[in-house]
Amino acid sequence: MIKNKVCIIGAGMVGSATMMSILNSGLVAEIVMIDQNEKKAAGEALDAFHTTSFTYVPNVLIRQGNYEDCKDAQIIVMSAGPSVKPGEKLDRRILTKTNAEVTRSVMKEIIRYTQEAIIIFVSNPVDVVTYIAQNEFNYPRNKIIGSGTLLDTARMRRIIGEHFMVDTKNVHGYILGEHGATAMATWSLCNLGGIPLSDCSKKFNKPAVNQEQVLKEVIDAGMNILMAKGYTNYGIAEAVARMVKAIVLNELSVLPVSTTLEGEYGIKDVAISVPCIIGQEGIQSILDIPLTKEEHDKLLASANSLKEIIRTIE
Ligand code: LAC
Repeated sequence: MIKNKVCIIGAGMVGSATMMSILNSGLVAEIVMIDQNEKKAAGEALDAFHTTSFTYVPNVLIRQGNYEDCKDAQIIVMSAGPSVKPGEKLDRRILTKTNAEVTRSVMKEIIRYTQEAIIIFVSNPVDVVTYIAQNEFNYPRNKIIGSGTLLDTARMRRIIGEHFMVDTKNVHGYILGEHGATAMATWSLCNLGGIPLSDCSKKFNKPAVNQEQVLKEVIDAGMNILMAKGYTNYGIAEAVARMVKAIVLNELSVLPVSTTLEGEYGIKDVAISVPCIIGQEGIQSILDIPLTKEEHDKLLASANSLKEIIRTIE
């Protein structure tokens, strides 16, 4: 029986921040932290547990556990594996070989206990590890979701919202494709409360947005933060908590997340971020949004670039 329970695999900076974001959402009854370093996992869980005296989150059970806890988990968050370190090449793709193996070993453990949990992949390069999990294991593909460009889209909406002084909830538009250097923006669909981005400068009496500059700021954000503080964790943690909310509440929300395409947008055999309807069953469907030819070409280019990476680990 599936419970309102989340297992987080990986008690590093991302996994521990994700635990706090999920805990403070107040949406789950149990959080289990799983890590090879059981002491670290137990310490993270105990530290988080004590915060509930201040946050009055309903009596959430938070503890260290192991893969067997996945048996009745509703959601599993996979954040295990190394991240890019300052001083290394600032490209998530350098983690491909290592995190491909980490993903394979984690999936081998998960499938021993469950075929029902929704698995959210966060480890980078997230599109590649999502593709491995969806295509190398006999697990329901719709129940595997990569965090993809959900965080990039949030970063874009934050920048645009701040520019025009509008709540990011009312900034509509996506960053799609790779969670990485080849990501693209659907500027033709971007609107603020229904006002197309192209009309916003006049309507809000603000300078026009430099779209190229905003996209570069979004794409570079992860590495810029990493160079400043050594890692990123808060943004991705809230992105995962957003996905958890959509699943637990069966929201059927449209979120840009990574999944293997099977012909959608004329793309197949690669996982990239496209708008998906997310609910209790994971990816309920993929939305076919109207892209301009230029936008579609960029999405295709992003997909083809990722395919080259996938070929190196098949
Ligand atoms: C970032 C990591 C999650 O962009 O790739 O912050």
